[in-house]
Amino acid sequence: MPALVLLGAQWGDEGKGKATDLLGGSVDYVVRYQGGNNAGHTVVVGDQKYALHLLPSGILSPGCTPVIGNGVVVDPSVLLSELSGLNERGVDTSKLLISGNAHIITPYNVTVDKVTERFLGKRKIGTTGRGIGPTYADKINRVGIRVQDLYDESILTQKVEAALDVKNQILTKLYNRRAIAVDQVVEELLGYADKLAPYVADTVLVLNQALEDDKVVLFEGGQGTLLDIDHGTYPFVTSSNPTAGGACTGAGVGPTKISRVIGILKAYTTRVGAGPFPTELFDEDGEALRRIGGERGVTTGRDRRCGWFDAVIARYATRVNGLTDFFLTKLDVLTGWEQIPVCVAYEIDGRRVEELPYSQTDFHHAKPVYEMLPGWSEDISKAKSFSDLPKNAQAYVKALEEMSGAPISAIGVGPGRDETIEINSFL
Ligand code: GDP
Ligand code: IMO
Ligand code: MG
Repeated sequence: MPALVLLGAQWGDEGKGKATDLLGGSVDYVVRYQGGNNAGHTVVVGDQKYALHLLPSGILSPGCTPVIGNGVVVDPSVLLSELSGLNERGVDTSKLLISGNAHIITPYNVTVDKVTERFLGKRKIGTTGRGIGPTYADKINRVGIRVQDLYDESILTQKVEAALDVKNQILTKLYNRRAIAVDQVVEELLGYADKLAPYVADTVLVLNQALEDDKVVLFEGGQGTLLDIDHGTYPFVTSSNPTAGGACTGAGVGPTKISRVIGILKAYTTRVGAGPFPTELFDEDGEALRRIGGERGVTTGRDRRCGWFDAVIARYATRVNGLTDFFLTKLDVLTGWEQIPVCVAYEIDGRRVEELPYSQTDFHHAKPVYEMLPGWSEDISKAKSFSDLPKNAQAYVKALEEMSGAPISAIGVGPGRDETIEINSFL
């Protein structure tokens, strides 16, 4: 059972970094397959805390080879500073592999991201401003720059020219900004070539050979199911496919190779940026979840919007990803509430709806139908097995499992590696 996918089941920040790191010690490769440095994955090892943006969370496990797949968008300056930051802290990053087919986030992509958001005004998406959307747009428009282009100056220059031809018209004539010089961009990008060269590889070949040799490969998603460009709350989404199918296209591995798909699911819900969020709280419960859960963005430092658990979304994630398991995180954050509301269905224009509506208009009108579950007050952060949990915490987990459509195989009771209850083994 060599290939596993681990992905966010909600709107991101579910605790993917911690879960990936936990498995990192037992797998041979950890692969990012989409997104870029819009991600912020926190890993806590002992008293050390790491915030990873572009690097797979497996980079902290010495036996594991971290891979940046073809589906990722790479900002070279961010990557190099993330690598040197880890090196300064004694982490060996020499095994990293980067796909030559991954697209590069150029300085003009970052500019276009920020300018577009500004012009959208109150209709903005609330992007992370890292150039993610414009880079994927260039990829689909076939004017993108790939990592391998850094090694052919003539091709690189032609491609940057082609990309800037249109963009400079837009920047100067529409957005009233200065044009971006081709030479300057080419020079900056060429400056990264030698530094990245040791890592660039045919990652599709490497990963498929590893699977042939029965090595264990873990695909680590960025963002989450509801931020997926196809299956999320479009247009309030990111520009890639965090859902399970994205692992195949974003790493060049066939679906027949994937044996397990693990959805990381927070015991409540959070969201950063704009867009619908039926269980969002605007009262002191929301404030308390934010405070106790430390719900502040790892990448942009924005406060996360907080709300109760939404089982409709969890069921949807099970369906579109073919989830085999859930890893429930941050159960400890819910300690202390007398009763915990859980959204079991929506009311939409007077109708009860059990499944996520495909219509954006309906979803914008969805009001949560809550069931109240009894809370607990005991500290659960030291629990090592399911039976260590108070009865009401056990019942909360069982109720979520029942509603969400896949077994909960692990439970997070704190940010540290060992603050985890393992129920079914993932490997
Ligand atoms: P990711 O983007 O999915 O990797 O998640 P983030 O790192 O953005 O946000 C998750 C936050 O919750 C981080 O600060 C983690 O250290 C923390 N965390 C993860 N699992 C748990 C847990 O079970 N309990 C608590 N209290 N914190 C957790
Ligand atoms: P991790 O991997 C939460 C959100 C942004 C915005 C939308 C589009 O840490 O879970 P983008 O910059 O991607 O074009 O922004 O997606 N977003 C995230 N929200 N966690 C993330 O990553 C996110 N990455 C992007 O806030 O709403
Ligand atoms: Mg995050």
